[in-house]
Amino acid sequence: MTVYLNGQFMPMAEARIPVLDRGFIFGDGVYEVIPVYSRRAFRLAEHLERLQHSLDGIRLQNPYSDAEWSKLINELIARNAGEDQYLYLHITRGVARRDHAFPNPPVAPTVFMMSSPLSTPSAELLHSGVSAVSAQDNRWLRCDIKATSLLPNVLLRQMAVDAGCVETILIRDDCFMTEGAASNIFAVKNGILLAPPKDNLMLPGITYDVVLELAAANGIRHEVRRVTKQEVFNADELLLTSSTREVLAITQLDGKPVGDGKPGAMFARLHQLYQHFKRDVMRKA
Ligand code: PDD
Repeated sequence: MTVYLNGQFMPMAEARIPVLDRGFIFGDGVYEVIPVYSRRAFRLAEHLERLQHSLDGIRLQNPYSDAEWSKLINELIARNAGEDQYLYLHITRGVARRDHAFPNPPVAPTVFMMSSPLSTPSAELLHSGVSAVSAQDNRWLRCDIKATSLLPNVLLRQMAVDAGCVETILIRDDCFMTEGAASNIFAVKNGILLAPPKDNLMLPGITYDVVLELAAANGIRHEVRRVTKQEVFNADELLLTSSTREVLAITQLDGKPVGDGKPGAMFARLHQLYQHFKRDVMRKA
């Protein structure tokens, strides 16, 4: 596996960073996950835009122009096996003496990228749906930044795994749903797709955007607004989206069936639209 680190491509085993890297010491960095279909980075412009938003959010200068990112990303794709991949890219505030304050003068950021095989959900998972637990969203108020400091998300996701589930649905202030520990969440009631608004309390998912665009283009009724805790627990369907898991039905929440406990009509429709979009648009972009 070939990775990219600070200007060079190299085998993963040779990639090294100093222990004083602020990513290691403070989790002081941001990242992106970009799916690649037929060796084409999906929605690269949108991912780079979100990366810029994250960098602005942590006051770190973007080390590369979009054209430079694009060239590096395409080279990384070419140097790795597999028509479908997923890219992880990671930028930290660099290596400096340990001090919470930013290094002054600034130091060079650390830039790391790797590619992994993209494995989309199995037919079995698509057929059965997945189970989720709910938990209080105890994260900070800048969940729109794709920060590498993911300890809250890690602990929240582990709650799901400990319960034999796939995802944790996060409820803010005991009142409304924000997203999953590592995904966006939609609810469905009476044929209407309900999506939480993209604000500071959730990560603006690229897959979330695709799903809403597909809904709009195909006459699927949808509302972007706060989705209450009550609506989550009384939903006919719950859906999960992310770059690596695409669209999945959540068929159990906290041990109880969601709707009739099977993937529903909205899931079937959106999953089909997503697969067609992948085949006809993403693979040929
Ligand atoms: N995570 N919300 C959170 C907290 C996430 O971590 C993710 C994705 C999403 C979905 O975003 P997108 O559709 O752009 O993948 C929402 C990635 C996959 C990860 O951390 O590995």
